Amino acid sequence: MLDAGRVLAVTFPDGSVARFHAEWLRFNALDAVTRSPGNGQRLLTIGDIPEASTLEDVVTSSDGSAVHLTFEPGAQRSSFPVTWLATHRYDVQRPQASGWTADRVQRWDHATMQDRIPEATLDALRADRRALADWLGAVDRFGVAVVHDVPTTAGALVEVADLFGYVRETNYGRWFDVRSEVNPSNLAYTNLGLQAHTDNPYRDPVPTLQLLACLENTVEGGASTVVDGFACAARLQADDPAGFALLAGHPARFEYAGAADVCLQSKRPVIELGPDGELLAVRFNNRSTAPVVDVPFDEMPAYLAALRRLASYADDPAMHVTFRLAPGDLFIVDNQRVLHARSAFSGSGSRWLQGCYADIDGLRSTLATLRRELAVDGVIDRIVDVFARRGAEEYLGEPVSMAQHMLQSAAAAEADGADPELVVAALLHDIGHFTGELGTYSPDATVDHRHEIEGVRALTGRMPQRVIDCVRLHVAAKRYLCAVEPSYFALLSPASVHTLELQGGPMAADEVAAFEAEPHHADAVRVRRWDEGGKDAGRDVPGLEHHLAALRTLARAALT
Ligand SMILES: [Fe+2]
Ligand SMILES: [Fe+2]
Repeated sequence: MLDAGRVLAVTFPDGSVARFHAEWLRFNALDAVTRSPGNGQRLLTIGDIPEASTLEDVVTSSDGSAVHLTFEPGAQRSSFPVTWLATHRYDVQRPQASGWTADRVQRWDHATMQDRIPEATLDALRADRRALADWLGAVDRFGVAVVHDVPTTAGALVEVADLFGYVRETNYGRWFDVRSEVNPSNLAYTNLGLQAHTDNPYRDPVPTLQLLACLENTVEGGASTVVDGFACAARLQADDPAGFALLAGHPARFEYAGAADVCLQSKRPVIELGPDGELLAVRFNNRSTAPVVDVPFDEMPAYLAALRRLASYADDPAMHVTFRLAPGDLFIVDNQRVLHARSAFSGSGSRWLQGCYADIDGLRSTLATLRRELAVDGVIDRIVDVFARRGAEEYLGEPVSMAQHMLQSAAAAEADGADPELVVAALLHDIGHFTGELGTYSPDATVDHRHEIEGVRALTGRMPQRVIDCVRLHVAAKRYLCAVEPSYFALLSPASVHTLELQGGPMAADEVAAFEAEPHHADAVRVRRWDEGGKDAGRDVPGLEHHLAALRTLARAALT
């Protein structure tokens, strides 16, 4: 699996291999020397990492879930979960064409999105974290979503921005009215139709989210349209790759000086790609396009042809998703991606919208933390559920139930002054008896059910590595203690003596050495002693609810 020295080669469970440089591993180590255990922020600079870092010792944990490394110079020890290495591999082919988008981004057009815009009521978004996560996830994925039942009072749209982040205040105010005006400062404030556009491309940085809420709408016309700018860009790239490259490769100019106290200017491309070719943003706004002067003379005709073609896609009904806003409706767009338009409307009746801006990094942060909290809920619910459903089962023929045994072990750890990770390790050490397919111990069993491996399976990615290592090693710790501490065997109950036999008896000398090389072996030995002490029929200890806060904290840390 491993190649020590300057490069670590890891073979993953699916058979794929990725290489990691020793220097990269050391710079990105997860240990408390490298990263603050409290907030995860890096404590070392790149200058603190020896350029000539090598891997002097590489040990894979016996279940293959972690790699333990020793770096030189400095003999720094550090462990990496294999799952972490899998999600952070960089030794991969990236044959991405220019203009690629992240997997989560789903492009759409009229055929795929008309009448399917993700929607929710404001009450549901306030009351139900899963509904909010789904709605925010839709904004992230599609760049557009609708909210119903927003109060039709001035400024109420801010309550929607408050669900996930902060309003971005501009010269238009914290929020602004969009309705017909005499001598308007912006063409938005007329009854003219507006071509599909992104807002405020003349700002740098551009507001990344726009919210538009409807307070009144009794006019003829005035329908709202949204267009996926990423889909338009992809269409341009497919039809005219050279034109796509021109719009992505040269800055455009945008300007707004429509009021006496404003002169906003930006110099940014119509199609913005990252250094790796990822499609990051589309800026498209006919009203505020300034003279483009950064395209070479010979290329200007082709540049304008490409812009004309992109505009034709933005105007193409096949790309349009159209809806009529009723009072109380609000829609949000990713303003770096989705264009919005409105059709002209009659002068009679009234159409009153309010808009505001916000930023998508805050939305994505809220989405990520919400998803993590929902995953934490899932971990806790599962543990509570197995204790409730199966806790009353007999524990290895001992005079305590399974739940009593685990709770007594945790109480013994607490009485011994153990830190929260070890208390939780003691609490969960036998969870594999609950979650395994093979059922629990019986006195006439002839094979070991490997409940510690079932436990690892149940907890991987859901609890910190130290907890998982203790669960994994608590059986080996018994075999270890029987080998190194002759008096220990006498403490074992008859059932424990039976399982010891099934598990292979006391360790041989080479097994002892391998066990002692495990970074958390001493913790596992402590868990084992609390395990032996958790078989007392008469002892009353705190219930599972006593441990929920610690479980939640550790699950959150593991899921970060
Ligand atoms: Fe056990
Ligand atoms: Fe146990």
